[in-house]
Order: sequence, then structure tokens, then C-alpha cells
Amino acid sequence: MSERITVRAPAKINLHLGVGAPREDGFHPLETVYTSIGLYDDVAAVASSEWSLGLDAAPYVDASAVPLDDTNIVAAAARALAALHGVPVTASVTITKGIPVAGGLAGGSADAAAALVALDRLLDLQTADDDLLRLAAELGSDVPFALHGGHALGTGRGEIVTPLPAGDAVLWWVVVPSTSGGLSTPAVYRHYDELSPSVSPEPAPATAVLSALRAGDVVALAAALHNDLQAPAVDLRPDLGDLIAAGEAAGALRGLVSGSGPTVVFLCADADAARGLAGVLQEDGHTALVANGPVAGAHLVNGL
Ligand code: C5P
Repeated sequence: MSERITVRAPAKINLHLGVGAPREDGFHPLETVYTSIGLYDDVAAVASSEWSLGLDAAPYVDASAVPLDDTNIVAAAARALAALHGVPVTASVTITKGIPVAGGLAGGSADAAAALVALDRLLDLQTADDDLLRLAAELGSDVPFALHGGHALGTGRGEIVTPLPAGDAVLWWVVVPSTSGGLSTPAVYRHYDELSPSVSPEPAPATAVLSALRAGDVVALAAALHNDLQAPAVDLRPDLGDLIAAGEAAGALRGLVSGSGPTVVFLCADADAARGLAGVLQEDGHTALVANGPVAGAHLVNGL
């Protein structure tokens, strides 16, 4: 039987997402603090003479929103590795999605990071870490962080990642994916520009979140959570504002739109509080997943 390499990569939440005025290339300068949570996509690769891509998805994931042709970011990751090494990258690849699609949790970025690591290993390409990070940055702004995991500071358009200490605090989250479709990241950034036409080129600094993380103080962290994309996401999807209010009334320390949304995440005091809140939201008809972090970036889970 041929060897199967499975690599697991986590979803991300932006604890701080400061967004400046758009650059000349159209991207927005960011100061962001990423954290990884225990909600994962797996990418499994088996040797094959051809390229093929398949998908399994958790029940709450909209599998129909994932293209399996050349436009999938996993296919793009394979092409990028092929170009770097001048070899054909053929493999039979299956993505198993536990991260909601187009939800602001960087699920596609997790897939790209996992694919780079899985294919590098399967084909014994021995890509240098610097090359892997460069390819990751070319594939998408959040892909380098999916390789790193943990907590990290993101600058540039998000692709310049500086790891931060994991600290002592385990962060307990309730993650509520949208059941009425995703939000397009470019559309949310465009709406941010419309709502904030005279924003400074300098993104808002992450000082408060960084000091709460250093202190390991979850209550201070909850108060410091900041997302400049929340206003445009809630303007496009007013139901998200109602959901945040409901979760905070039901005991969350803070509710927040994740990245460009529409997933809403709630930071809770501890595991019991997270499980209790998830139960309340489930009774209201929501999908509510409990996840904690920080967790490791893209890593091999079998195939050794
Ligand atoms: O880099 P990524 O492919 O994830 O970006 C998707 C889109 O999100 C970009 O094409 C751009 O419209 C928007 N974006 C942005 N500024 C960033 C990151 C993303 O405007 N820093």
C-alpha cells in the first residue's frame, strides 16, 4: 500500500486586526495578532501518477463552496512547489474540512499550508523553511501564520509573521459559523474603505492585546480584542451584531467577528463557561463549536 501523508493545520482568529488605508497594490497594511485554535483541516496526500483533489467535510461546512479544480488553493500550492523544484507535482490529495469555508477563520490558508508540508514530505522535496514561508506568503496573506500556529504578530498585508510566546493562558472559544453563506474577504475590505474613507495609512497598534497576552490575563484580553473589519462585516450582515449581543448576554467575556467574518467567536473564562455558552447557543438553533488554543501550526499527524 502506498504511503499516505496527513498534515493538519488550524483555524486562526485575529485577537487584534488593525487595518490601515489601502496600499498602491490594493492590499491593506495590517497590524494583527493571530492566534490558532483547535479547529482543523487535514490534507492527506498519496503518491499517484496524476493530480487529483477530493474533499470530505464536517456537517456544518458548506462543501459546495469549495472548488476542486485548478482554482483551489491546494492546487495552487502544488503548482508553486512544482515550479520551485522543477518537478511535476502529482499526487492524490484529499482535504478534510473542519474549518467553515469563507468564514474569516483562514480555512483556505490552512489547506494551503498543510498541502505545502504534505507534498514536500510525500515527494521528499526537502524545501528550506525560508522557501516554504515565501511560497506561503505568495499563496495568501494568512498562509504563513498557518505554518507557524501559536500566537503571532502579523504585519505587512498579514504575511510577515513574528511568533509570540505561547504564554500560560489557555484561551477557550465558542465558534459560531454562519449558516447563511460566507462573506467574501475582498468585499468586506472594500466596504471598510467605503465606511472609513479617511483612515490613516498606519494600522491601529496591537499594544493592549499584546500586554494582556504577556500578562496571561484573559479578562484584560477580552476587553482588548479589536477588529477593524467588524463594523463593515456587521453592516453587511446585521444578524452578526445580534448574535454577538446574545452570546455576551449568555456569559461570554466578549464576542467578536472573526477576521472578515461571518463567523462569530466568543472568548470565555474557562472550559466550563465555553461549554455552557455553546449549549445555550445550540438551543437557539446555532452551530456552536468549542475550541481552545493556542495550538501548533501545520504538522504531520501520520505517515512517519
Ligand atoms: O491574501 P489573500 O488572498 O488572503 O487576500 C484576499 C483578498 O483580501 C485580497 O485580494 C484583498 O482584496 C483583500 N486583502 C486586503 N488586505 C490584506 C489582506 C487581504 O485588502 N492585508
